[in-house]
Amino acid sequence: MENNRKVTLTYNDGKDNLEMPVLKGTLGPDVVDIRSFSKTGMFTFDPGFLATASCESQITFIDGDLGQLYYRGYPIEQLAEKSDYLEVCYLLLNGELPTAEERKVFERGIMRHNMLHDQLMSLFKGFRRDAHPMAVMVGVVGALSAFYHDSLDINNPEHRKISAHRLIAKLPNIAAQAYRYNKGLPFSYPKNGLTYAENFLHMMFSTPCEEYKVNKTLALALDRIFTLHADHEQNASTSTVRLAGSSGANPFACIAAGIACLWGPSHGGANEAVLKMLDEIGSVENVPAFMEGVKNKTHKLMGFGHRVYKNMDPRAAIMKETCDEVLSELGLHNDPKFKLAMALEKIALEDPYFIERKLYPNVDFYSGIVLSAIGIPVSMFTPIFALARTVGWISHWAEMIADPTMKIGRPRQLYTGAQRRDYIPQEQR
Ligand code: CMC
Repeated sequence: MENNRKVTLTYNDGKDNLEMPVLKGTLGPDVVDIRSFSKTGMFTFDPGFLATASCESQITFIDGDLGQLYYRGYPIEQLAEKSDYLEVCYLLLNGELPTAEERKVFERGIMRHNMLHDQLMSLFKGFRRDAHPMAVMVGVVGALSAFYHDSLDINNPEHRKISAHRLIAKLPNIAAQAYRYNKGLPFSYPKNGLTYAENFLHMMFSTPCEEYKVNKTLALALDRIFTLHADHEQNASTSTVRLAGSSGANPFACIAAGIACLWGPSHGGANEAVLKMLDEIGSVENVPAFMEGVKNKTHKLMGFGHRVYKNMDPRAAIMKETCDEVLSELGLHNDPKFKLAMALEKIALEDPYFIERKLYPNVDFYSGIVLSAIGIPVSMFTPIFALARTVGWISHWAEMIADPTMKIGRPRQLYTGAQRRDYIPQEQR
């Protein structure tokens, strides 16, 4: 909120100074309120939003220098150890941890919405079998808006809540069916009585021929992956969801926009890119040559670096522990891919190129290895990120819609194109 500090903008051409208030959050750096700047007839220029706070939010806090991440004030380490994904969903959506009764009601609400409309299943069949599951997810999640006309009034808090529950409940099912369609497996159904993560494994891997037994350790590791990916303040896909939602678009369409943005290799596609990179490097002997290429900027070391974290990504530290647990459970410590990843990590952490640029492993460096060990195919890594992030996206969307001062997001530009010119008929060009 506003405090007494002000920033004064002085011009070198005799124009009047402009005083702008400095806003103080509960945590994090102060923020200069430049809204009055629009009256000067100039714009600020900040491609990639390196110096711009695009909104006020009470959901998630990151300190990139200290490597801290809090959901609603709770450190991610405590949530990863003591909580579970569905409780984290409740926390992100509602701002507080649930009582036992609130948890029960919430869980029932999610379970009641986890089936997919039978007509939606025909939509999967319109895709080529070899479609990337993210392509299917963008399409099918967007299509949900055609199925739930009963809850599309974004100004009705009850409708917003039902849409949020539907999305959290249906995303694992949609992701699992996208995989099964690709494999030529028959569609599966959720099984209530299993936890959220167990249910996802069941929907992915069960067959009609025999009972699928969920491995509890692997389900817990997956639940932790969901928790670690649940929210990350105003990242590219969350900002996309907010921007789409600022026009009044329905939540299903907004989440589909978020999924599209997440797909890119600089964002959610990085976990898939890490595994592809490990495959390309092949073995530990090839690491030095690969690293030379990184330093010459021929390619990036995927799973390293972050716009906000200039220290260890706290999610990566937890994920590394989970990685250890999963590999021990499966007896895979000598897995060549894991050994290769560890060799890369060691070299990168000691190399001045990475030290000077404060490039540390991010969550995706390890999550791909864990998912791969669980038996999840590489093409499903980003869909899993998407299903876990859905709660973050919808929490931000709901926070924005409930804010009476919300405005449509409409950035301006520094135009460097052609001056005004007259149309030239084709025969004179
Ligand atoms: N490998 C090699 N060099 C890198 C890397 C990398 N992974 N990341 C950044 N750099 C270099 C970059 O070339 C630049 O060097 P120089 O100063 O010589 O020009 C310097 O570090 C600063 O990088 P930047 O591109 O200005 O940083 P950014 O904040 O714009 O980009 C990033 C952040 C995450 C897009 C980038 O680090 C990256 O592409 N990393 C690999 C992809 C990845 O792992 N993404 C997952 C992010 S975590 C999951 C999520 O939140 O989605």
